[in-house]
Amino acid sequence: MLLRVANRLVAVAALRRRIPNWAVGSAVRAMEREAMNSDPKRIHGFFTYTGGKWRLAKEYYAPLFPKIVEPFAGSAGYAGKYYWLDVKLYDINPIIVGVWDYIIRASTAEINRLPLNVQDTRKLTRLPQEARWLIGFWMQRGLSNPRETPCSWMRSGNWSVHFWGPEKRARIARQAELIRHWQIKQLSWERIPNTTATWFVDPPYKRGGTRYEFNHIDYERLASWCRKRNGEVIVCERSCENWLPFKPLAQLTTVANSIYEEGFWYRGPWKR
Ligand SMILES: C[S@@+](CC[C@H](N)C(=O)[O-])C[C@H]1O[C@@H](n2cnc3c(N)ncnc32)[C@H](O)[C@@H]1O
Repeated sequence: MLLRVANRLVAVAALRRRIPNWAVGSAVRAMEREAMNSDPKRIHGFFTYTGGKWRLAKEYYAPLFPKIVEPFAGSAGYAGKYYWLDVKLYDINPIIVGVWDYIIRASTAEINRLPLNVQDTRKLTRLPQEARWLIGFWMQRGLSNPRETPCSWMRSGNWSVHFWGPEKRARIARQAELIRHWQIKQLSWERIPNTTATWFVDPPYKRGGTRYEFNHIDYERLASWCRKRNGEVIVCERSCENWLPFKPLAQLTTVANSIYEEGFWYRGPWKR
């Protein structure tokens, strides 16, 4: 505990430029280790989503700040890895905001009462719309919008554990208890307050982002906005794009089986 407080004090002093960068290297490494190792229990996605970062989250730098802001939240894969921190999510899509709001607020009992064996979410008229969307995201994997009816893989019954069913419902109910402190707001990135935090910026790709309902981004403006965030910033994009100087992160395969390289850009108060 004492070490944690000392490290945070060094970090804050360094941020205010009272300590030169070279002197804070060990504190930064200690904070990084602390963030990596203090994961009390690993949690899994609350819903699967096109471009979701749940599996890739471990490849990015661990947060150095006690607050994480995801301005393009989607399924919030990075925040999910560090769920015990102060998490602020934003998205422009009312469906994403509604689903997160429901998960954060619904009681465990309410989630555990959600119906199983759903054939058409439109018929679940007694449920809040947000709960129907949540179930709809589990009707197929990697959707950008909830489905109303199960996909053929789900209908076949061979892969039932991967879709909406008792296992997913119990998982969401159990994990929701761990994220009651998260906040979600429907706001476009330009309007989010510039708080000091670890900013995980994962906009729709410049090329290929059209799968999202909301995908009109001025990338030049976004680049300059990212450079001005207080704290540290991790930005996601394909490594071949150049609206920021992206570096390679990992090779990934698209749904159509073609390979591409995921990239990232990092800017923080210290060299990492
Ligand atoms: C690549 S996805 C984010 C994926 C997320 N990192 C995850 O782990 O699931 C991009 C998200 O940006 C949102 N979005 C698009 N335009 C936006 C805007 N102007 N402001 C905020 N969010 C926006 C989309 O609705 C979508 O959910």
